[in-house]
Amino acid sequence: MTDSAGERWGKEAADAAAAVVRARLEVQAPVAAIILGSGLGDVASRMVGARSLAYSEVPGFSGTAVVGHAGTVICGSLGGREVVALAGRFHMYEGYSAQAAAFPVRVMHALGIRVLFASNAAGALNPELVPGDLVVIDDQINLTSQNPLTGRVTPGDLRFPDMSAAYSPRLKALVMAAAGAVPLKTGVYVGSMGPTYETPAEVRMLAGLGADLTGMSTVAEAIVAAALGMEFVGVSLVTNAATGMSDTLLSHDDVVEVGQLASARFADLLEEFVARL
Ligand code: HPA
Repeated sequence: MTDSAGERWGKEAADAAAAVVRARLEVQAPVAAIILGSGLGDVASRMVGARSLAYSEVPGFSGTAVVGHAGTVICGSLGGREVVALAGRFHMYEGYSAQAAAFPVRVMHALGIRVLFASNAAGALNPELVPGDLVVIDDQINLTSQNPLTGRVTPGDLRFPDMSAAYSPRLKALVMAAAGAVPLKTGVYVGSMGPTYETPAEVRMLAGLGADLTGMSTVAEAIVAAALGMEFVGVSLVTNAATGMSDTLLSHDDVVEVGQLASARFADLLEEFVARL
């Protein structure tokens, strides 16, 4: 017997959710979907002709309650191109399975979207990364102890996706080009279940594994994107030095505040990226 999570969050459910989003937001042919991380939701105000839908109206989505996450799907024009933005995530630390956490990716695919840009807030394991940095994710390490592809294969998925280019080289180059004269830093992102921040020993371990950034999202999304053959790219906003690397205690408010300060810079980058697609 396999778990039913794969079916509950599979192709049929994604098609049903996409039909509602398409009809309610008058979605045409978006060039990209954007997942907005903690405090980075201001992008929505840059979108021209934006229409939005609460997650509570989308079958299979339920309201997200984390501060800094609005819980809306928004469709509009950014950088002159139609995009769909997801403001709010289903985090595994809230009790969602990896399948549920990555379900919005399937919905974006069902809308016909083949480019996915994910953003997140992350702690810096690498001392060269400092709060406020926007970092292009070069690759990931999934330490959530779950994988969204376990169970029966969802129609259209690859059973054994090759993850060697899960973070699209083409899209990484486009983000770099969009950043202009000052090159963005790059780093490996490790995703853990959370909700605890790391102990000092965990920080040393994660850095030793080869990670530069640590967070509690994104990895399941990248895996489902790979299974569906979508091009995926991620940008982390460094909100803090990983705990154990700074003398001050870390709170979620700090994470959201740094996000808000960087929001305009992030929106500029995203707008330029989308215009170059
Ligand atoms: N650790 C894990 N997740 C995070 C952090 C962190 O330091 N900062 C923002 N998200």
